[in-house]
Amino acid sequence: MKIGRINYSELSTAQKLSVKYFTVAMVLFLAQLIFGLVAAWQFLAPDFLFGILDFNVNRMVHINAMVVWMLYGFIGAIFWLVEDESGVPLVGAWLANATFYVLTVAVTIVVLVYLFVQSGPGDAWTLWLINEGREYIEAPRWADIGIVICMVAFFYNVAGTFVAGRWSGISGVLVLDLVALAGLYLAGMFYTTNLPMDQYWWWWVIHLWVEATWEVLVGCIMAWGLIKTLGARRRIVTTWLYVEVALMFGSGILGLGHHYFWIGTPEYWLGIGGFFSALEPVPLVAMVVHAVYDAGRHSFRSSNHPALAWLIAHAFCNFIGAGVFGFMQTLPQINMFTHGTQWSSSHGHLAFFGAYTTIIVAFIYLTIQRLRGDVWMSGDLQGGWRWKWSLALLHVGMVGMSMALLIAGYEQSFIERAMGGSTWQAYFDGQTQPWFIQAMWWRMIFGVIMTAGLVLLLVDFVKIGAGDNRPIRAVPSEAIAEPEGQPEELAEAAAGS
Ligand code: HEM
Ligand code: HEM
Ligand SMILES: [Fe+2]
Repeated sequence: MKIGRINYSELSTAQKLSVKYFTVAMVLFLAQLIFGLVAAWQFLAPDFLFGILDFNVNRMVHINAMVVWMLYGFIGAIFWLVEDESGVPLVGAWLANATFYVLTVAVTIVVLVYLFVQSGPGDAWTLWLINEGREYIEAPRWADIGIVICMVAFFYNVAGTFVAGRWSGISGVLVLDLVALAGLYLAGMFYTTNLPMDQYWWWWVIHLWVEATWEVLVGCIMAWGLIKTLGARRRIVTTWLYVEVALMFGSGILGLGHHYFWIGTPEYWLGIGGFFSALEPVPLVAMVVHAVYDAGRHSFRSSNHPALAWLIAHAFCNFIGAGVFGFMQTLPQINMFTHGTQWSSSHGHLAFFGAYTTIIVAFIYLTIQRLRGDVWMSGDLQGGWRWKWSLALLHVGMVGMSMALLIAGYEQSFIERAMGGSTWQAYFDGQTQPWFIQAMWWRMIFGVIMTAGLVLLLVDFVKIGAGDNRPIRAVPSEAIAEPEGQPEELAEAAAGS
């Protein structure tokens, strides 16, 4: 198969795996948006597809597809960088390939079961075969066990390759983080009939994943991405990475408390959660400073403009979506009013998009550049309007949607909570106010804009750089002056700094 000027068959096994993981990730991303649109429409027309494709199922597929495609995106990125970073070919290539197919077949079966078995009795079989009932990780128990086995195999591939080759600051952090990521998944697997207890452990997966281990993972990917797109100096990037990781774990682990305010856990969580989660934006500020510092140092000159644009988008949207929008509702005094309103959903959307969608898209642009035979992806690239427009449409859609949800959340906090005193009646009153209903319309409109942006993005992935043949411009790199194994002092001398 000929893609651009590189033969797919010329890629290494690890790179081919990346392409496969990214492809499935993008299919799932599109599915996520389609199910999101149907769920959003059901807010406006509650009878739509009732009994055929119920809201709870659409919502579940929407957010499960998100979690899975993002994990696929991370795995794709790690397979892409593991050989470059370790200097040796992937260890256990056969196993890695088998894992990909097993995982993908399992995901397909799980989704089909969600769609075809939408209601029925909830007993032990349901838990094992159909749905475990934990938001975001609803996959049944058999799939849980399968996922853990696949993750162990993936860990073996990655850690084994670094062991066979060389280690670096980035790979060290990455491998330790994978242990934490896989280990935490276990906390979402055991069953208890006590709801607060069940939720207590479930948050270990959800919060500690997205606000600790996933953030650290994207820190590693970002570090590598900055070296590749800008030629940022490895020593500086690694130092930033250590600082960010320390801050991230320092605030994010006990920040978990912001989900323990009202679920029946002891009262001391109010203080712990409020304090530590209020500090969570600090590492996100560091990440913005880091990206802008590096980009500024290199006068924003890169060999891959789309990737750099999405990396910068990551730094900012992560800070605003997770940091600012999270901070807004994280103090217990405020959360008492905002909890469980569309306010959370507004933050949830902007944070997931800002922190994870952006960086995975950036990384896909890096891999595509290689597939096109290392063409120079500058601002005036042929057909460059596509990446710029898709970036704009996706962001306008997402920001618009989050603002609409924020307005709906404000309205709910006032009418339902502050004025209505959180009664059952007030709950419905809140949702029949014009501000709420209009916001739901705007969410729908911005959702369509966003979906148009995604379709254009996918077209761009297929087309970008295909007709171009200007070779990649050597990034004025300090990193390139650091050949394998050479002490950094020598490299710095070579770079003349
Ligand atoms: C990339 C990082 C983050 C992601 C992806 C994320 C995502 C989410 C999502 C999806 C929810 C809704 C959960 C549910 O279904 O109940 C949520 C809730 C929440 N997030 Fe974040 N978040 C991130 C970072 C942060 C940060 C840094 C803060 C604080 C500064 C924060 C504060 C909160 C709070 C307080 C809630 C609870 C809302 C409530 O239930 O009342 N988040 N987050
Ligand atoms: C076409 C665009 C989209 C539409 C129309 C849409 C619509 C929806 C709807 C209707 C819900 C259920 C809300 C509720 O139960 O009140 C939802 C939940 C959610 N969506 Fe989306 N969505 C879209 C895109 C995205 C994207 C791109 C992401 C992340 C990258 C995302 C992440 C989430 C999350 C995390 C939740 C759960 C929020 C919570 O529990 O608070 N969505 N979405
Ligand atoms: Fe959290």
